[in-house]
Amino acid sequence: MGLIATISEAVSPPRILADPMRMSILADELTRCQYTLSNCARRLGVFPRLGVNFWSTLRRKWEPNENDPVDCLLELLIDGREVPMDQLRRHLSSAFVDTIIETGLAEKDGSILYSRLCLFPCYGKFIVTDRACKNISINQVMWLWGESFILGGMVKRDPRKRAIDLGTGSGVHAILASEHCGSVVCVDISPRALEFARFNAAMNGIRNMEFVLSDLFDSIDGTCDLLLANPPYLPDSGNHVGENFWSGGVDGCNILCNIVRAIPTRLEKSGTANLITLYPMLPGVSIKEQFNGWLQGTLSHYEVLDYTWPVPHYQDLLSEKPFEGDKSAWRFGVVSLRRLESDKGWWKEAGDGWFFREDGSCCVTADHDHLRACARSSHTSAK
Ligand SMILES: C[S@@+](CC[C@H](N)C(=O)[O-])C[C@H]1O[C@@H](n2cnc3c(N)ncnc32)[C@H](O)[C@@H]1O
Repeated sequence: MGLIATISEAVSPPRILADPMRMSILADELTRCQYTLSNCARRLGVFPRLGVNFWSTLRRKWEPNENDPVDCLLELLIDGREVPMDQLRRHLSSAFVDTIIETGLAEKDGSILYSRLCLFPCYGKFIVTDRACKNISINQVMWLWGESFILGGMVKRDPRKRAIDLGTGSGVHAILASEHCGSVVCVDISPRALEFARFNAAMNGIRNMEFVLSDLFDSIDGTCDLLLANPPYLPDSGNHVGENFWSGGVDGCNILCNIVRAIPTRLEKSGTANLITLYPMLPGVSIKEQFNGWLQGTLSHYEVLDYTWPVPHYQDLLSEKPFEGDKSAWRFGVVSLRRLESDKGWWKEAGDGWFFREDGSCCVTADHDHLRACARSSHTSAK
């Protein structure tokens, strides 16, 4: 098996139970068992660029201990292994076991439990996604991996009025934003993704989220002061944009460029847009020039933190017809733009791609105020 397996099986989204108390059992019990990012990091190891090694094919050898609740949860809800029901009941309440079966998070075969989904801890929240393999029968909801934990850790958690999370998938970034934003709009073109996002909001007891089926901003009114996006980004001539979570069209930028073009009308002054993605630049074109083009020459109206790093050997594991040309200018990471009243903006290259602490959390915050002073000294005109 390569780094990523391909399967073909129908998988239903998890079901929300009508009683909110029963939904809260899930998060309460996972918290009680200390199913946390740092406990997962301690068992599975951490890559400085990719975060916790949830992906079993990349991981050092790990022998689960059946007497350890976190190990049992990792076996069942990350690795997709069969776990005896009695074993899980030793650590988690019967109500938890009943609830994971009723919601479809786990299935029962005699006295054995198994799961077709994944459940990740993420900065104090819990996120259900599809399994970390390529399933050609469904429009999969992206599992969490390095990029999720980078963006999740990097967004500055200042109070905000309204956040919009474009391409919300599991809703991970919207759920994290719900803690510090008055309201959060979760947007996806995939109804299946919105079912997962709704489930995850209910499991985490969140009530200030709205779920909108929309092609980017098409069905969304108004502006926001926090824009989040992890759009599909792979240059893929074999797939149609919007049919899966990875295809960004032939040049990879199909969705990204539409998001950036909308920023001047959708992001309020002093608002911040945080975009994590692959930037598959053509040789000779810098990200900065590319953004200035998408923003029609108005890049100087933004303070920009560029946390991208070069990825000239980027390996596309998902596309049917991956890009085979020159990747020497490709970069990956977060670009964080704060909109100004003036045209005194700047662009600062702020990171080198080594983002993870040993506990699996991201050690960098995209803080425009903090970096403003040093950015001024490296000011280069975007005008
Ligand atoms: C790379 S996934 C990111 C999911 C999630 N935000 C995360 O970071 O884990 C991209 C998501 O964008 C959605 N998407 C693709 N095209 C879209 C469009 N035109 N409008 C809205 N969502 C779109 C996909 O369905 C998918 O859920």
